[in-house]
Amino acid sequence: MLLKAVLAAGLWLAAGSPFAVARESPATSGIATAHPLATRAGEEILAAGGNAFDAAVAISAALAVVEPFASGLGGGAFWLLHEAETGRQVFVDAREVAPGAATADMYLDASGRPKPGLTLNGPLAAGIPGEPAGLAHIAERYGRLPLARSLEPAIRYAEEGVDVTRGMEMGLRFRTEVTRNSPAFAALYLPGGKALVSGDRVRYPDLARTLRALAERGRDGFYGGPVARRLVDGVRAAGGIWSLADLATYRVVEREPIRSVYRGMTVVSAPPPSAGGIALANTLNILAGYDLARLSGADRRHLTIEALRRAYRDRSLYLGDPDFVTMPVARLLSPYYADGQRVSILPDRATPSIALSGILPDPPAGTSTTHFSVLDKAGNRVAGTLSINTWFGAGFIPPGTGVLLNNEMDDFTIKRGVPNGFDLLGAEANAIAPGKRMLSSMSPTFLEGERGVAILGTPGGSRIISMVLLAALAWEEGADAREMVSLKRYHHQYFPDAVAYESGAFSADEEADLRKRGHQLQPSPRAYGNMQVVTWDRASGDVAAASDPRGSGEVLVY
Ligand code: DON
Repeated sequence: MLLKAVLAAGLWLAAGSPFAVARESPATSGIATAHPLATRAGEEILAAGGNAFDAAVAISAALAVVEPFASGLGGGAFWLLHEAETGRQVFVDAREVAPGAATADMYLDASGRPKPGLTLNGPLAAGIPGEPAGLAHIAERYGRLPLARSLEPAIRYAEEGVDVTRGMEMGLRFRTEVTRNSPAFAALYLPGGKALVSGDRVRYPDLARTLRALAERGRDGFYGGPVARRLVDGVRAAGGIWSLADLATYRVVEREPIRSVYRGMTVVSAPPPSAGGIALANTLNILAGYDLARLSGADRRHLTIEALRRAYRDRSLYLGDPDFVTMPVARLLSPYYADGQRVSILPDRATPSIALSGILPDPPAGTSTTHFSVLDKAGNRVAGTLSINTWFGAGFIPPGTGVLLNNEMDDFTIKRGVPNGFDLLGAEANAIAPGKRMLSSMSPTFLEGERGVAILGTPGGSRIISMVLLAALAWEEGADAREMVSLKRYHHQYFPDAVAYESGAFSADEEADLRKRGHQLQPSPRAYGNMQVVTWDRASGDVAAASDPRGSGEVLVY
């Protein structure tokens, strides 16, 4: 296989590295996804002799059909892979890129003011999709089954139709006004001008055709030929700037994951163009200087918030697409750097973000995106986070394609000091440039330690990193999969200088204590995240899977 050739060329270091992990196999396979039909797609492919990588392709494609508001062929994805046989781990980056005609100031008017809505609504908001290329890449390089076989469940779902869930109904209501402008969207979801409601059924004949083109012709079935032409024609007719060359030149990039060690637990997570791995490593390095388990709840939360504040500050200042910008990655990952950051944390006082300097300037724009975790019996693992950004992405489907486009351009920094849809600030490192990947927070992650392994991730925009952090800290202290997904969450992202938190995250005493230290506490109007976790206990061989109680996912231990 190609993978073996790459290994022989000595390009991959995982085997024999300090991060190589034991190679015994789990007793069963495990799947956790955000939708029962996606879990079943994975099960079908494992039963057909596929490995975790084939299952990941089947699940990702199925999610594109059953959760179209969250991810899909019109979007991007990150898949973190672990190959049991070799111990090799690789991050498959299928993030969207800016179109070739994009410019740094494309969302600003003549006087430099942001033009409202353009990064979020309609085809100008859409980056060039990466997910279809990623599916073909994973099937070809790592799968045992042909791409066409792994796409079968998705194609079947698209043809047979899918029931509208309550989540989808809510998303549709939220996006009705924008999506009226896309006739192909309206034909699917707004028949007679009225948004579908839960219990209705949607069939996706165009999407099925596009999936078939991908199944039959591999990546060229999407990035070339009639599908590419329809995509570009549809985008351009509605004011977008895609070209056929943008699609033809899209490339998946394989990257080395970011690894860090916290109290004996190895955290393997997303490298840039995600901020996830670096921010997790940095936060954990800061927290490693304290004995968190022995501290009071308020102390522990205070320190975690302060660590997050500092890591998100650096996210806004330094991070972007590694193929375009030079970033101080070694420094940000260094324990010595964390030592310096720790010195600036006062035990009894919140540090105002403004006092940390950086980028200076307000609730998240809906929730979308999706995550799944899968482990096969051979020990192969995949953590996949897939996205079209916010609910129903750009709300635009180029006619005849069935492909709902992302609005991931909003993840770029359109202007220093102007926050994006998740209130994240950024700098030149994340400015728009043709072909450049927008900075992400998506953090598909493995946790590895004496206990075994956890495979996790979640949607949630800027809050993804803090959610993964809290779950990692809990796992390190013995939490199981269910406890990890059920944890009450809190979050700080430097700006806005406030602690967002779910009801129940803090006791009344902790709340009072944190306020006294100067933290601005901002209760989240609703619970957030949709975490999917699979764990493998190395001692017992037990595999467990848990799906976030906030969502309607389903797990399988098979
Ligand atoms: O890549 C990112 O960080 C965002 N586009 C993810 C968006 C997301 O998770 C939306 N869900 N709430």
